[in-house]
Amino acid sequence: IGRSVIYYDEVDSTNNAAKRIARESDDGTVVISRIQKSGRGRLGRPWISPDGGIWLSIIIKPKISLAHASRLTILAGITVTKIMRDMGVDAVIKWPNDVLINKKKVCGILTELNAEIEQIEYVIVGIGINANNEIGDFTEELRKNSTTLKQETGKPVNRVELVQDILSEFEQQYIRFNTQPFSSILDEWIELSDTLGKHVTIMTPTRMISGKAIAITENGSLIVRKADGISEEVIGGRCMYEI
Ligand code: BTN
Repeated sequence: IGRSVIYYDEVDSTNNAAKRIARESDDGTVVISRIQKSGRGRLGRPWISPDGGIWLSIIIKPKISLAHASRLTILAGITVTKIMRDMGVDAVIKWPNDVLINKKKVCGILTELNAEIEQIEYVIVGIGINANNEIGDFTEELRKNSTTLKQETGKPVNRVELVQDILSEFEQQYIRFNTQPFSSILDEWIELSDTLGKHVTIMTPTRMISGKAIAITENGSLIVRKADGISEEVIGGRCMYEI
């Protein structure tokens, strides 16, 4: 991972840039940009990406089935959360793939893939971290729910070191992913996440479901037990904790 790194001063989105070169790129190629002009978040939302943050995408060419692709998002969440904890901040994973510090979002992950008939050609794991960027110009709603590493640690972080740490940890996780049963990775996710056991409301484009988050499946879906006692599996969506 990161043996080949492509750096932009400005780009539309590192996920887009990665997609443009993915076919001819080696497994593990990384695209980074200082600024993204049209950074993308999950569920079609924009992702504000000013100078000071970390905006990167990793191109992966895994030998896994389409059904297991979401597991790479789980790996990325574990990676970022571990590295932040090593920095001394109390980071947790919020299902499906946000990293929070003190209940505020510090990192988002957007995984996209290209596949033909069950065969994955490449996966792009996009990681966005609010590091030293100001969130003053975020919308009110975003500002309320976001934080930065600089804010949480009280000092600017060394972004080069942080990127290096993230890429080498991701590489370790990826080696583990390729050699060990996925259940061991899930166990680590469960340890680093604060979602299980909470009462959640999840909004998907087609429905809204509320209940207690009781388990995570092998592909990262959440099992939610509703008030009527029936459990449902939710693949993704916007997750809100009930307070
Ligand atoms: C989310 O929480 O909605 C996911 C945000 C993902 C943002 C990152 S920044 C690098 C990469 N390029 C993008 O356009 N998006 C991802």
